Amino acid sequence: MKKQFIAGNWKMNLTLNKARDLAKSICEGLADSNTVDVGIFPPFVYLKDICDILQSSNVFVGAQNMSMEKSGAFTGEISGEMLRDIGCTHVIIGHSERRTIFKETDHIINSKIKSALLNGLCPILCVGESQKERDTGKTDEVVDGQLSGSLENLTSEQVKGLTIAYEPVWAIGTGKTATPDQANEVHACIRNIIRKKYDNSTAQSVRIQYGGSVNSNNAKELLGQLEIDGALVGGASLDPDSFLDIVSGAVRHA
Ligand code: 13P
Repeated sequence: MKKQFIAGNWKMNLTLNKARDLAKSICEGLADSNTVDVGIFPPFVYLKDICDILQSSNVFVGAQNMSMEKSGAFTGEISGEMLRDIGCTHVIIGHSERRTIFKETDHIINSKIKSALLNGLCPILCVGESQKERDTGKTDEVVDGQLSGSLENLTSEQVKGLTIAYEPVWAIGTGKTATPDQANEVHACIRNIIRKKYDNSTAQSVRIQYGGSVNSNNAKELLGQLEIDGALVGGASLDPDSFLDIVSGAVRHA
């Protein structure tokens, strides 16, 4: 049985007090439910406070990005070792906003994943096509290219510990969600790509989240799809009630 994994990507939002309140509300709302994995990804500057608040809870805390470098003269960067040191367990890598705005390539993303794993962090690797790529029938090809580049030289054991987030760029922050069928189809394609590159047990072990305008109205149906093992939620994760509703829509898959 695979547990669903619902993650909240807070992006560049909130103030410290609001971030602390949101973390507390999520923690209280979940009580000691452990049928679903839940993680939150606050901005860097709030991570230590939130790790402390959630220390004895079952909510994972992770960063939205990290450096591929170990340490040294990299002004403005944050290393995997630093994240681990303050209590983070997870890190989002290769989000489409990092790929497009900050020009992160699959090669950089691959280095970041390796560095995260070396530091004992569980990466959430994001992949997904643009509207133009979907319209021209290139979705599978784009996702295959992103996975090949991002997973280069990783062993099947390493890949088994990953979460992959399928986030179609056209659905992020637009209110335009992929239909459950559209999402399920790409998730099946991602699992097939992993099966071909590795083996069936790796493909079955890896969790694949859907991300892109997930909210409390559409989550249950998306999460009910066979190939969907969770959600990476942006906007709706900033409201505790919406986020908790999404968590309660998560079901277990065989
Ligand atoms: P929205 O849920 O706001 O569309 O954002 C999705 C996302 O980018 C999560 O990483």
